[in-house]
Amino acid sequence: MGQNLILNAADKGYTVVAYNRTVSKVDHFLENEAKGKSIIGAHSIEELVANLKRPRAIVLLVKAGPAVDAFIEQLVPHLEKGDIIIDGGNSHFPDSNRRYEELKEKGLLFVGSGVSGGEEGARTGPSLMPGGHPDAWPAIKNIFQDIAAKSDNEPCCDWVGPAGAGHYVKMVHNGIEYGDMQLICEAYDLMKRGAGFSNKEIAEVFAKWNTGVLDSFLIEITRDILAYNDDDGTPLVEKILDTAGQKGTGKWTAINALDLGMPVTLIGEAVFARTLSAIKEERGRASEKLTGPQPKFDGDKQKFVDQLEQALYASKIISYAQGFMLIREAGREYGWKLNNAGIALMWRGGCIIRSVFLAEITKAYRENPELENLLFHPFFKNAIDKAQDSWRQVVASSAIWGVPTPAFSTALSFYDGYRSARLPANLLQAQRDYFGAHTFKVLDEYASDKLPKGQDIHINWTGRGGNVSASTYDA
Ligand code: 6PG
Repeated sequence: MGQNLILNAADKGYTVVAYNRTVSKVDHFLENEAKGKSIIGAHSIEELVANLKRPRAIVLLVKAGPAVDAFIEQLVPHLEKGDIIIDGGNSHFPDSNRRYEELKEKGLLFVGSGVSGGEEGARTGPSLMPGGHPDAWPAIKNIFQDIAAKSDNEPCCDWVGPAGAGHYVKMVHNGIEYGDMQLICEAYDLMKRGAGFSNKEIAEVFAKWNTGVLDSFLIEITRDILAYNDDDGTPLVEKILDTAGQKGTGKWTAINALDLGMPVTLIGEAVFARTLSAIKEERGRASEKLTGPQPKFDGDKQKFVDQLEQALYASKIISYAQGFMLIREAGREYGWKLNNAGIALMWRGGCIIRSVFLAEITKAYRENPELENLLFHPFFKNAIDKAQDSWRQVVASSAIWGVPTPAFSTALSFYDGYRSARLPANLLQAQRDYFGAHTFKVLDEYASDKLPKGQDIHINWTGRGGNVSASTYDA
């Protein structure tokens, strides 16, 4: 990825200094891909630093975690006040918050930048999500926006916010990536196990979907993966072990959602779906012991595919609405002023979740930067209204067939919960008060001397318990 970013910047007219601690890699790069380009090789950190104009801007692309700190530690003694260190890895945002503070004390400007799009994106135009010390932005803005992907001639890169905000937004991007991938996998499973489609038929469905509302990079690669046959002429995907790996960014998003008290259920289910897949041997034993229905499909295939497209679209809208709810809360909690339209534009092109749909999100937030929830915008509200019957049908069929759809199902449950002015949490509060004197508040219209408005009330439900309530606090 590092090499490709360097080549990309050189193509845009910048002179770049390349360094790798394995110096033979630098030489190999200079003699091959970098030959004839405005790229200078450095064989030591001293050489790297000496070749850079001030303020120096150094991008690190190393494995997230201690390697980033180790590299920064080596660099710092060679740098001068105002120099910029940019971490372009998938670092966890609390680490970026810390690095920003530590370097600020030394007069250095830290930038944590999300970089998405894989190796190919790095070469042709990635999505870049930089955040950190605001004084760094004017110095790096041109190069960042020049090398980034473009969407309708606008760069998929803008300043996200202070400290670890750039890496935070990249983390949510990855969480949404997990959600999108899980939804696609569930659609494939429903077509395959549920309705008995062949891989060729499923590939054709994804090809068609890629020309409509679901048009996106992940649908496009799924089409190609399903059509890809091994040497024996059978689909390679069916030979792949069904245990999903993860590097942790989706898990961080789910953990952060729990920390901030935001119902980002779809990403959570996507992470759990990966962990369920990973206990393959145990699933094998369970499959021999536990029973369920045998899917039986004798309906109209095209009708089912159309319903599934709508269900996937509606679930995807929910996932992005949840993701932006989390970003909104993070802005409040961490004191960051995050620009939703800018974030949607950064995700519009170059990155793994790039899609036509993100243009609508950009538009919605540009129209109304204070939009409380994407679902309140007429475009998304109408899309859900249109998709709703199909969505319910698909979730119902999956339950009847016994094909697991954690992401589709949680999206629908969230939708129904979110649109409920009243939820059964009244009973839950009563239960908490019954067994633990955790207290409850009364609805305003039922306030009385016995049940005073706005107060934490404890009732002696059984006549045996005491009247003393537990201390009240919310985690
Ligand atoms: C991107 C991707 C990338 C990430 C993975 C791996 O935006 O280019 O998000 O940053 O490394 O796709 O993620 P998992 O290993 O956790 O699936």
